[in-house]
Amino acid sequence: MNAPLIECRQVKRFYQMGEVTVQALRGLDLCVDSGEFIVLLGPSGSGKTTTLNLIGGLDRPTEGQIVVAGEDITRYTEKQLTDYRRRKIGFVFQFFNLIPSLTAVENVEFALTLTEQNGRNLRRKAVALLDLVGLADRADHFPSQLSGGEQQRVAIARALANHPPILLCDEPTGNLDAGTGQQVLQVIRELNQQEGTTVVLVTHNTAIAPMADRVVRLRDGQIDHIEVNERPLSVAELAW
Ligand SMILES: Nc1ncnc2c1ncn2[C@@H]1O[C@H](COP(=O)(O)OP(=O)(O)OP(=O)(O)O)[C@@H](O)[C@H]1O
Ligand SMILES: [Mg+2]
Repeated sequence: MNAPLIECRQVKRFYQMGEVTVQALRGLDLCVDSGEFIVLLGPSGSGKTTTLNLIGGLDRPTEGQIVVAGEDITRYTEKQLTDYRRRKIGFVFQFFNLIPSLTAVENVEFALTLTEQNGRNLRRKAVALLDLVGLADRADHFPSQLSGGEQQRVAIARALANHPPILLCDEPTGNLDAGTGQQVLQVIRELNQQEGTTVVLVTHNTAIAPMADRVVRLRDGQIDHIEVNERPLSVAELAW
């Protein structure tokens, strides 16, 4: 039995708001295997984004450990954490956060400049990433000239610039209509199945849950329960 890729051990995250302590996570225990597709569900305020940010090294727990590929990232220095994010993590957010003054290909190239040692062929590499999400023909469009789903696919291409083994998606379809949301899910699904990318995807949309290997439900900063899908559905099979 291999060790899990991601292991959250009794992870707590408290925020001090004057006199009041907000307990965003109250002791989360979660293991994610390499190559798994996890959907994280739960009511607003249940701790989903907090969990993603902690796994992604954007934030640190108040207590507990997060072990990724055998290393306790909660012990990392800021510099090690930055390096961890570059090497291991791709983030996709609800609001695509593209740079409006750069074209699609330039947005991806910019991400490549942050990770590539070698500055050659950046455009070719960026176009190849856009091709992966089906958007090579929109390379020279600015974000304002793209649909929401296209913008999100550029954001996915950007997240993949460093070939991350872990893709963290926070409501990636939250801002999209059903059809475009499905296209975006399809891209994420293919990365998971073809590249073996481990995916943790946060959503409010319970219709997405059947495509996951496991569905983790959070409530009040803890795991309420975990469902295992013996036969995860394809995107086309989801009852949207
Ligand atoms: N920076 C912060 N300061 C104080 N409290 C915070 C902060 N960030 C989150 N919280 C609180 O922590 C709890 C969990 O927040 P989180 O953003 O993880 O929820 P969520 O499950 O992602 O919700 P949503 O579905 O609305 O995005 C909430 O009660 C929130 O108010
Ligand atoms: Mg959230």
